[in-house]
Amino acid sequence: MLVVGAGCAGMRAAIEAHDEGADVALISKIHPVRSHSGAAEGGINAALGNASEDDPEKHAFDTVKGSDYLGDQDAIQILCDEAPGDVYQLENWGAVFSRTEDGRIAQRPFGAAGEPRTAYAADITGHVLVQVLYEQVMKRDLRVYDEWFVWKLVVDDDRCQGVICWDLLNGGLKALGAKTVILCTGGAGRLYVGTTNAYSCTGDGMALALREGVALKDMEMMQFHPTTLAPTGVLITEGCRGEGAYLLNSDGDRFLKRYAPNAMELASRDVISRAEQTEIDEGRGVDGNVLLDLRHLGAEKIIERLHGTRELSMTFAGVDPIFEPIPVRPGAHYHMGGVDTDLWGLTSLEGLYAAGECACVSVHGANRLGGNALMETITYGKRAGAHAADWALSHTTVDVPPSLLRDSERELKELLAREDGERPWRIRDELAQTMHENFGVFRREELMLEQGRIVQRLRERYERVVVDDKGELFNSDLTQALELGFLLELADCMVVAGLARKESRGAHARPYDFPDRDDESYLRHTLVTWQDGRPQLEWKPVTMTKWQPQERKY
Ligand code: FUM
Repeated sequence: MLVVGAGCAGMRAAIEAHDEGADVALISKIHPVRSHSGAAEGGINAALGNASEDDPEKHAFDTVKGSDYLGDQDAIQILCDEAPGDVYQLENWGAVFSRTEDGRIAQRPFGAAGEPRTAYAADITGHVLVQVLYEQVMKRDLRVYDEWFVWKLVVDDDRCQGVICWDLLNGGLKALGAKTVILCTGGAGRLYVGTTNAYSCTGDGMALALREGVALKDMEMMQFHPTTLAPTGVLITEGCRGEGAYLLNSDGDRFLKRYAPNAMELASRDVISRAEQTEIDEGRGVDGNVLLDLRHLGAEKIIERLHGTRELSMTFAGVDPIFEPIPVRPGAHYHMGGVDTDLWGLTSLEGLYAAGECACVSVHGANRLGGNALMETITYGKRAGAHAADWALSHTTVDVPPSLLRDSERELKELLAREDGERPWRIRDELAQTMHENFGVFRREELMLEQGRIVQRLRERYERVVVDDKGELFNSDLTQALELGFLLELADCMVVAGLARKESRGAHARPYDFPDRDDESYLRHTLVTWQDGRPQLEWKPVTMTKWQPQERKY
């Protein structure tokens, strides 16, 4: 088996597959401990009940409501039921969670959660989990192909049977056969100029699946996190608000009382991002930001629970939050959409699975709750690993036709042989800038149409892209050109899905033409497939079990 991507979902999938008896390898364009999962700061949600009376049922309801009823309720139930056991397993593996006075795992409030449910390790939870999972990978002696860039899937006989990849360290294309492949490549936040996402978050797995006929679900649903640092976009954790930080406008006013009078700073991310953007657009921002004020928390609490935030603020904004508020604004953070899978991570292509942010099972619907992403990587990574292992163990053959590698080599050679053309970074920058302007927190029909035209033009220009570095070793010029191809196709899918959803739901806000949620017409998922070089749209019903849609207020 091959697991593509070695963040939390990938490593958890590989561990489970190994423990089920499969021969599994991880392959990733970056080393596992540098994966973007490390950027999930504030915590992981499980109804442990250590800070209040809590149970998986409450967690599930909060998640369904948070998703603006677009999440599949069976998938959400599984996540919330399995979460406590999965978190205790991480603890048993050595995850150093912060503690209550009596030694249990501490839990803090997070947005739109009815109970303090987010287990945390100060504000470096993602880092802690990445380290713990990597220890488990090493303990099992799993093979890790780190710094290998997966460019294509091997599909033969209507089955995914491996990958074609570029060896970043030594150069050269290689074909790796596998009975099952699990995509765990994370999100595509680099579609936006202002993002919390690492440079590596280019939607590779989503595009790989799309190119092989697998549908992407709910691609219009890009989450904007309310507190990203100006000007870098670095994440300032929701844990700050969980610990009691305020959001202020230029008048020093806690403006959320006008948008979410009950939950205030702990409303859902979509609600807070829109409130901030409105304040900024109506002239009550501070240099294009609002202010996140931690000062009243006191130095001791900031240093104990939010030391990473303090360090980031001081390093990247020159602001010490003990003494000054942090300038923040909404930034692209998380793709609720992704590869359409079943409850075990299986896609419509035999042998191909997906888990984590690159997948859409869907537990987040139109708006994800903070802390649910790390949980999804663990629970659904584990499930995909188990199912894919089971399949691999009961099937014997792998066939990678040599012609697939030869064709890919020819394609790459042609790209590298091109001497004249446009540099990829120009197109990438233009894409990220225009996505931010035309497909951001608020969406307008005419701007989405314009973005569709822009993406078409960028795709045409991409046909003539030139890679300057012709070398073999660490040719990031080449990989960035290939990543750009992924990003452009995903942008196209997002715009098509966004235009089709003529309502406002969660992260998809159309206040100017369709300000309300329309359950009658749009309580359903968008599904985009790639046909003849263009996205084709279909719809898929949402799985409802016991929660009927209600008006969503915080
Ligand atoms: O704000 C945060 O710590 C991010 C967590 C998440 O996106 O789940």
